[in-house]
Amino acid sequence: MSTAAVKAYRGIGMEGFIATWYSGIVGKSLEEYRVLARSIAPRLEQRASVLDLAPGPGYFAIELAKLGPYRVTGLDISRSFVGIAHDKAREQGVEVDFRLGNAAAMPFETDSFDFIFCRAAFKNFAQPQHALREIRRVLRPGGQALIIDLRKDVSAGSIRQAVAQMGLSRINAVLTRWIFRYVLIKRAYTREELLQLVAGAGFGSANTDFSESLTGLEIRLRK
Ligand SMILES: C[S@@+](CC[C@H](N)C(=O)[O-])C[C@H]1O[C@@H](n2cnc3c(N)ncnc32)[C@H](O)[C@@H]1O
Repeated sequence: MSTAAVKAYRGIGMEGFIATWYSGIVGKSLEEYRVLARSIAPRLEQRASVLDLAPGPGYFAIELAKLGPYRVTGLDISRSFVGIAHDKAREQGVEVDFRLGNAAAMPFETDSFDFIFCRAAFKNFAQPQHALREIRRVLRPGGQALIIDLRKDVSAGSIRQAVAQMGLSRINAVLTRWIFRYVLIKRAYTREELLQLVAGAGFGSANTDFSESLTGLEIRLRK
């Protein structure tokens, strides 16, 4: 099966109250971002240049910036999220350069980043193949990218379990389960689709590692 380079359905932009609502919901799972940041920091050089691609409220980028003198940048297509993330970084006293821009046409020089992180966002990209080509372009030779996202074949039971662990109010839990079922799963990729996109962007199989968890998939890419 061929995977479309451009998705016909673009979804709704995460602006205004949607961005505020999302920031509050995932803000209850801050520990998840801290654990991720702590797992990635030991692999980075002291002054590593890191891109959080589509950071939303910026939680991962902010937690990572607390752990060392990394040069952390965020790039998001939502003006609301860029503002929210900027304010949160200032509140926390860390320096992160949150910028407005599209993953499919990044405003960065070739070979700019040592590490690129992209969580819960790749499935939303309207031009996934362009985004992967851009990830490859802006990574330094030897640089790595980690994409974490929802797996398309996630079961209803696993979603219930994951949402139950988020500590949400009853109404937000119902709404979040609904969004998973009717919005996010539709946009998510299977392992095969993702590997096909990655290969199409020039990442050879020797430079691609793939793993799956109950609800998600992780793909590690090397340039
Ligand atoms: C569900 S949020 C995930 C945010 C964050 N990574 C996290 O883990 O909480 C998806 C993000 O992708 C962003 N996004 C969607 N399409 C994008 C694109 N083409 N370029 C950059 N950001 C994009 C949205 O604005 C939003 O911030």
